[in-house]
Amino acid sequence: MATALAKATDRTAAPHEYAARIGHVSKSFNGPAGPQLVLDDISLDVAPGEFVTLLGASGCGKSTLLNLVAGLDAPTAGTIETPGGRPALMFQEHALFPWLTAGKNVELALRLRGVAKNDRRERAEELLSLVRLQGAYGKRVHELSGGMRQRVAMARALAQDSQLLLMDEPFAALDAITRDVLHDELTRIWRETNVSVLFVTHNVREAVRLAQRVVLLSSRPGRVAHEWTVDIDQPRRIEDAEVAELSVEITEQLRGEIRRHGQH
Ligand SMILES: Nc1ncnc2c1ncn2[C@@H]1O[C@H](COP(=O)(O)OP(=O)(O)OP(=O)(O)O)[C@@H](O)[C@H]1O
Ligand SMILES: [Mg+2]
Repeated sequence: MATALAKATDRTAAPHEYAARIGHVSKSFNGPAGPQLVLDDISLDVAPGEFVTLLGASGCGKSTLLNLVAGLDAPTAGTIETPGGRPALMFQEHALFPWLTAGKNVELALRLRGVAKNDRRERAEELLSLVRLQGAYGKRVHELSGGMRQRVAMARALAQDSQLLLMDEPFAALDAITRDVLHDELTRIWRETNVSVLFVTHNVREAVRLAQRVVLLSSRPGRVAHEWTVDIDQPRRIEDAEVAELSVEITEQLRGEIRRHGQH
């Protein structure tokens, strides 16, 4: 059983061939009936600057795979490499500290990264402007709308200055209009920063709206079932005909996967 988590951080070195390499990764959890295989022999590369969405039915192991790439858990077999350093992670719930202001939440990430005290305020303001939250520096979390909170969470993730951003259904709890706006913002930020993104969702339209590549996981256990390259110009709209057309094709495959495993 080969298990390795690469954690080297060297942003000055020659560019890496990939932002993440998932090599033959399997993961089992111990359940009451013995070990339960959740992920089975998954291999997937994310190229530098690439935007990949991971799509699959509920419970197929998407979050498990993302947590493995984040280094929060170790694979049962296989290897995970993130040669650009520790990835930044963003969840469905914003996970901001409610006793801190928006600005201080971002500054905390800067502090953990070792940014000098005197530079933090200015950098936090820059990051808040990047997510179009100029002026929110002194606002407390409870004063912000759900969409604004996710923007702060995005600014905080970007404050880690990682080459890889892992996102686990970050917009799932938002209304459709806010989600639309944040899709535009994320696309813009991805293009401006050239960060690589691995984005988990079970929303097919969202996967196609955002990604250069959509990877469909099967259920029980999760395997790479299918992959699509999305060759549609950005910025896209979720209601674009081309987005809709590819979404129909992917949804059919996803339904097939769900049927095969008797889920609803
Ligand atoms: N720490 C754990 N211990 C035991 N079982 C776990 C653990 N984490 C996840 N599982 C199981 O692994 C399977 C996959 O869970 P996971 O959360 O990765 O699915 P998911 O694809 O992210 O689902 P969703 O779309 O609902 O978020 C589930 O059956 C879950 O119960
Ligand atoms: Mg999940």
